[in-house]
Amino acid sequence: VPAEAQAADSLTFTPIEGSDADEIIVPEGYEWNSIIQWGQSLVSTTPNLTDAQIRDGFLATAAAAENMNNQFGYNCDAAEFFPLPGFDADGATSGIICVNHEYMNYNLLFEFGEEPDPANTRDRRNYDSRVEYFRANPEAARFARANVGITVAEIERVDGAWQLVLDSQFNRRITLDTPINLSGPAAGSDFVQTQGSSRGITVLGTYNNCAGGNTPWGTYLSAEENFDQIFGGFAALEERLGDSTDPVDIKTLDFHRRIVPRSGDSSLGLEATWNRFDSNRVPNEAFRYGWIVELDPYDPTPRPKKRTALGRFKHECATTIVATGGQVAVYLGDDARFEYLYKFVTAGTFNAANRAANMDLLDEGTLYVARFNDDGTGEWIAMDYDSQPALRSATVEGTDVPQFANQAEVLINVRRAADIMGATPMDRPEDVQANPVTGKVYMACTNNTRRTSETRLSSRQGREVDDIADIPNPRTNNSFGHIVEITEDGDDNAATTFAWEIFMLAGDPNSEEGRFLTQLNDIDEAPLGTNDTYFAGWTDASVLPAIGSPDNLGFDNQGNMWIVTDGRQPTGNNDGTFVVPTEGPTRGFLRQFMSSVNDSEVCGAEFTPDNETLFLNIQHPGDSGVIGAPASNFPNGGDSEPRPTLIGIWKTDGGVVGS
Ligand code: FEO
Ligand code: CA
Ligand code: CA
Ligand code: CA
Repeated sequence: VPAEAQAADSLTFTPIEGSDADEIIVPEGYEWNSIIQWGQSLVSTTPNLTDAQIRDGFLATAAAAENMNNQFGYNCDAAEFFPLPGFDADGATSGIICVNHEYMNYNLLFEFGEEPDPANTRDRRNYDSRVEYFRANPEAARFARANVGITVAEIERVDGAWQLVLDSQFNRRITLDTPINLSGPAAGSDFVQTQGSSRGITVLGTYNNCAGGNTPWGTYLSAEENFDQIFGGFAALEERLGDSTDPVDIKTLDFHRRIVPRSGDSSLGLEATWNRFDSNRVPNEAFRYGWIVELDPYDPTPRPKKRTALGRFKHECATTIVATGGQVAVYLGDDARFEYLYKFVTAGTFNAANRAANMDLLDEGTLYVARFNDDGTGEWIAMDYDSQPALRSATVEGTDVPQFANQAEVLINVRRAADIMGATPMDRPEDVQANPVTGKVYMACTNNTRRTSETRLSSRQGREVDDIADIPNPRTNNSFGHIVEITEDGDDNAATTFAWEIFMLAGDPNSEEGRFLTQLNDIDEAPLGTNDTYFAGWTDASVLPAIGSPDNLGFDNQGNMWIVTDGRQPTGNNDGTFVVPTEGPTRGFLRQFMSSVNDSEVCGAEFTPDNETLFLNIQHPGDSGVIGAPASNFPNGGDSEPRPTLIGIWKTDGGVVGS
């Protein structure tokens, strides 16, 4: 690394090399530790989950489910830190961490050894389907339901390392069995009423909680992403309602087609013990998932709320920033191929002097979707029934049934509303983060291997989409993803127009199969190839690491962008953590900070307010293995079973992370 370049920014750590070793690698002078790992108990009255229990089939018992209601769940994803009073003053360093538990790897819960033993009734491979497995092992289904959701836990810093505060009043779990309220415009809508919730204002549980966010008033936002995995029975529903001329039936099918449940069994098989996950039996249950959930980490009393004003889709994240006029903007990615970027702007304004006054700010406001114009401008289009004639006049394709009757229906089927209004299909919008120094907004488009070089209209998620690479998504077979930089007009996050440019085309900048681009003026010659890269104009490829599939983003107080990856790395290394300045002479000079363990993705990139600790979640370590034959032994080493784990990284001698 050239010394003059290194000296030009605040990132003075020695970058690491990428690695495929089953270990966490951090720069010289740094340490890491496991803060909370899967199965670790939050209370002293419940024991920790042991490797012996995992290996002997304990997870399929009622006791395992009881315990898991007090233990750290599976596949930790988002991490958001909320300081407690006195943080970093008088030596007091404690706070609350909120963590999402996205989904489960059944092979690491219910499959034993390389070959199944036919006599083992707890081995999932002895059953024809997941549904059959859970019918035979209903307690395993209870355990599965307790494994996902959210953990809220107090942690404290002792001698550098953060650790769980056992029995803290803040410690709690949210699972698939926790009552949650629906609030905002879609609460109570006909389409969120079910046999079990006739008023349509309560839901049991939250699922596929991916990334998240926090609010200026200190609440946690959790994003329900691939909730469609949990619903089955769609072919039977289509069979039953397909010939109906009842507008409700026609709209029910259309709403589902834009985020479609599994045609037969769900991916999880939990409908074996719970009818509500069978979309034929309870058609509206899926409309009660796919929302942003808000909870108060400091107060376990009020129920969490699903904020329907923010729309229903495969929510990746929810990133808030206070706009010039005091409204709160929330940036929202919809992580699927050819889906959209959204922004919600509150009607009310943030009141810094009165926390309680902000608690329902997210129930009222305007949801926008982004259109990226080829000339580098963009517009936020209001997803608003009252002010958009095109939404009021739209009909369900092939019928004369009105597509939407009110704003609630726009929000439930907002992908369809965004199609109608001409939003720009992107290469899987994952995390969105705002730079606290400049106010610019960054969106990770993680990858999209379906981008082609010639126009090919194909049917995806209930609509026809043009697959051709375009200016905002310029690469064909975009295996390694890209990052888009957005500058709101007037530097106001409530603006309805913006400027945008590509910040990074990820990949291997030293690949012989692609070009290392130092400017994108020739982007009109798109499509660019899979291995063409661009790092915000940085000109020296030799000092850049390879990076693939940027997923979550985070910013430190200096305005450096931290990037964690989820997926294929260009040179075959494990996923990792990278950092890049977005301004100044080293804009685009990416460096690798951390390498993760086998089969894992890295989530989070969350800092303490003093930037002295970086929190990361290590998700699905060793997920290509089975119990007893793990592909990773993270975090406990030896021949232990792999466990999704929240880790902290800090400088041994103190100081901000990155220095
Ligand atoms: Fe759950 Fe889009 O990652
Ligand atoms: Ca994930
Ligand atoms: Ca993600
Ligand atoms: Ca991802």
